[in-house]
Amino acid sequence: MIDILEKTRLQFADLGVSTDQDVERLFNQLIALAETEQKKVLSEPEREEYRVRWLGRNDSVRARVKRNWLETAPKEMRRWVGTYFNTFSEQVETGFAYIKLAAEILEADTPIDLSLPGVTRPIGSHHLIRQVLQEIEDIFFSIGFSVVEGPEIETPYYNFEALNIPEFHPVRDDMDTFYLDLPKGAPTPLLLRTHTSPMQIRTMEKQKPPVRVIVPGKVYRRDNPDATHSFIFHQVEGLAVDSDITFCDFTGTIEYFVKQFFGPGVKTRFRPSYFPFTEPSVEFDVSCIFCGGSGTSAGGGTCSKCKGAGWIELFGAGMVDPAVYGFVNYDAKKVSGFAFGMGIDRLAMLKYQIDDIQVFFQNDVRFLRQFP
Ligand code: FA5
Repeated sequence: MIDILEKTRLQFADLGVSTDQDVERLFNQLIALAETEQKKVLSEPEREEYRVRWLGRNDSVRARVKRNWLETAPKEMRRWVGTYFNTFSEQVETGFAYIKLAAEILEADTPIDLSLPGVTRPIGSHHLIRQVLQEIEDIFFSIGFSVVEGPEIETPYYNFEALNIPEFHPVRDDMDTFYLDLPKGAPTPLLLRTHTSPMQIRTMEKQKPPVRVIVPGKVYRRDNPDATHSFIFHQVEGLAVDSDITFCDFTGTIEYFVKQFFGPGVKTRFRPSYFPFTEPSVEFDVSCIFCGGSGTSAGGGTCSKCKGAGWIELFGAGMVDPAVYGFVNYDAKKVSGFAFGMGIDRLAMLKYQIDDIQVFFQNDVRFLRQFP
């Protein structure tokens, strides 16, 4: 009978090998032999001999297996022969690395303490924005909201029109954003969403009232970067629609959220505002934690975070404008609701006293490590 090493000089056709089991048996015999030989290697010349014999370039066992078995295998067998070949190759390499390492340890001048702990690889942690998002989600879960997510690339219909912002409405000037270059004849322009509000429409299209959802996600605007503005940032949209939702439900929900998130001591205020998709609309502010609400920095100048106002805007909100219900086939006479859209980055800055929004996007580990 020919031994396994001799078999590596022949091709499958000569060996009568035609099934997966035949191939597996051959490779198992080879691996067993390689392991037996490894155990006998003691000296440096023996190590080198083992390497040349099993892994060398030209006439080693591995080179022959590749040439005679892998490269000449019938097409239909080649995939699994390749898999066995890779396993065989890795086993011999690992075995060789092991005998090399064992020799180095034995030959080392300084004793090695094998009881020392190994090298630990840090597994990392969630980014602060993700941590804050989870805090926000937990608070809204506790009052019956669920989470939905939506596309970052939107059509103008969802980002603007269905939110009651027609094509030439001036509010688009603040929000116009990054449009995608599309091939001529594309059915609709596409843009990076400027806010998470399009998900109000997508949710109501799919679901009949009662609706109670929050929508976290990234949004994009042409804003110039400064301490509180970035051209990419994160929002959480909220939407609650039912048959009898009032402005009191709205303010109660918002106040509850803010007290849970910042603690009971925070000062808050609603300011009248304008959004085409809510009526009435408000902006919600909290007192500036950097200057204590005075508007003046510790050095005596104007506080750069609240720009002297003493308040920092947290989000826009309001009661859903009845016009919006028309776009999603809800009966505006039967339903009412509220919506809000908050900047997660701004919430994180305030809660954790971070004075520049840009640090969220710089991936500096000295910053990230402070929030394990
Ligand atoms: C909106 O985006 C509305 N869609 C919010 C809304 C939703 C109103 C539902 C009514 C109903 P606004 O442009 O104000 O509104 O942005 C909301 C929040 O996002 C701001 O209060 C602020 O916290 C944050 N924000 C806005 N621009 C930036 C920016 N460039 N960088 C970081 N955060 C920002």
